[in-house]
Amino acid sequence: MKVTLRIYRFDPSVDEAPYYRNYAIEAEPHERVLDCLNRIKWEHDGTLSYRMSCAHGVCGSDAMKINGRCALACQKLVRDCEADLILVEPLPAFTVLKDLIVDLTPFFEKVDFIRPYLIAGEPPEKERLQSPEDRNKMGESIRCILCACCTAACPVANENETFLGPAPLVQAFRRIFDSRDIERVERLQQLNVENGVWACLNHYECTRVCPKEIPVTKYINTTKREIKRVFGPTQEKKDTSA
Ligand code: SF4
Ligand code: SF4
Ligand code: FES
Repeated sequence: MKVTLRIYRFDPSVDEAPYYRNYAIEAEPHERVLDCLNRIKWEHDGTLSYRMSCAHGVCGSDAMKINGRCALACQKLVRDCEADLILVEPLPAFTVLKDLIVDLTPFFEKVDFIRPYLIAGEPPEKERLQSPEDRNKMGESIRCILCACCTAACPVANENETFLGPAPLVQAFRRIFDSRDIERVERLQQLNVENGVWACLNHYECTRVCPKEIPVTKYINTTKREIKRVFGPTQEKKDTSA
């Protein structure tokens, strides 16, 4: 079938302003948008820039906006684009470095801030044990691939650059509810600020776009409830959760 990709182009070193360029190519319905981008780059226009690595929904590097929705290009099939014209744009909320590549430095600084690793104290003689019940408390948060789709889609993160954003909150949730982590209370305290969990206004956009189907908003609200349980309602800041 014939499809046209309308792609956002911008090279700040030569272009005065962003523009869109159409590329008409042949593609099979079962091919992914990433296959189309590769065909364009390899056979039509080698100047097109985008990130990709695994091509199988694991590395999170090819997050972009496809037909108005943040998604992974390697997971989006041509037949699911519901139009012969596929609009491809960079993730919103971030500075464009070139074409579909955005600067994710502020995103990863916020992820680093919440200390996205297990803090478990002195190692035991053998392995650290965790029961299946305790493992289940972390839920689907372990699936997060840090693609940034959720943060880019979040209306609050788009308006307020100081908001930690949904992806760091998912990373924090994973450690707060990890029975082996010893900094649980400190982690909760770190999120108990106006631009931490309390800035989330329950728009659910993060949950809608997450390519790993993580219930992001539910985990943010669970963290809010845990903060109230541990510190009491007087610690609450601008709570708008249901
Ligand atoms: S929560 Fe989902 S959308 Fe957000 S960074 Fe993780 S995988 Fe991506
Ligand atoms: S639920 Fe919270 S984090 Fe998710 S999009 Fe809405 S405001 Fe942003
Ligand atoms: S290229 Fe790795 S997730 Fe798409």
